Amino acid sequence: MPELQRLRPDHAPAVLAFEHANRAFFAASIPDRGDDYFTRFPARHAALLAEQATGACHFHVLVAEGTGEVLGRFNLVDVADGSAELGFRLAEKATGRGLATKTIRQLFQLCRTTYGLTTLRARAANTNTASRSVLTRTGFVETGEDVVLNGKRGAGYARELGVGVGAGAGQA
Ligand SMILES: CC(C)(COP(=O)(O)OP(=O)(O)OC[C@H]1O[C@@H](n2cnc3c(N)ncnc32)[C@H](O)[C@@H]1OP(=O)(O)O)[C@@H](O)C(=O)NCCC(=O)NCCS
Repeated sequence: MPELQRLRPDHAPAVLAFEHANRAFFAASIPDRGDDYFTRFPARHAALLAEQATGACHFHVLVAEGTGEVLGRFNLVDVADGSAELGFRLAEKATGRGLATKTIRQLFQLCRTTYGLTTLRARAANTNTASRSVLTRTGFVETGEDVVLNGKRGAGYARELGVGVGAGAGQA
């Protein structure tokens, strides 16, 4: 089973390989990171870790068992007042088998027990059917807020996490 791990310095090569291998796949549904992202990756990775150390965000990678290959990224940003915004992306070859859904459910437990979060927010473009499907299946509800994501119309979502270790167990 792939393992969800908090982002560390030694994840850098595997994260870069993941972003390279899936660049075209991601760019089909979310904004491309741009060439600079790839050429300046080491500094960018270090900056993320420094930001994470402040508690303002929690970054995670989904790592394949045995190989150390990164299969996905699940990030919580803008952490404040028990709330954070969720962003996620999965390697193309790992899609279509419920891995994003399963990992987000796992992340909920981490949010409750480790990060002390009670609400997660998310945004998805109206055209991003896979993302919207994952958000709905994991219990996110549309907030009614209209958002524009790099020129595309989209929706805002929120998910109440409940309180306590077992809250929501067995649910989305
Ligand atoms: C969105 C993403 C994480 C989904 O990963 P995943 O592991 O395939 O997700 P799941 O298998 O848990 O669920 C995907 C759902 O979307 C559906 N889906 C997948 N691709 C689809 C597509 N191109 N069009 C319509 N539906 C699609 C699947 O059928 C599934 O729904 P179902 O089980 O009801 O049939 C992945 O496609 C991805 O990383 N995309 C690019 C980055 C991105 O869009 N991130 C989200 C930003 S808000």
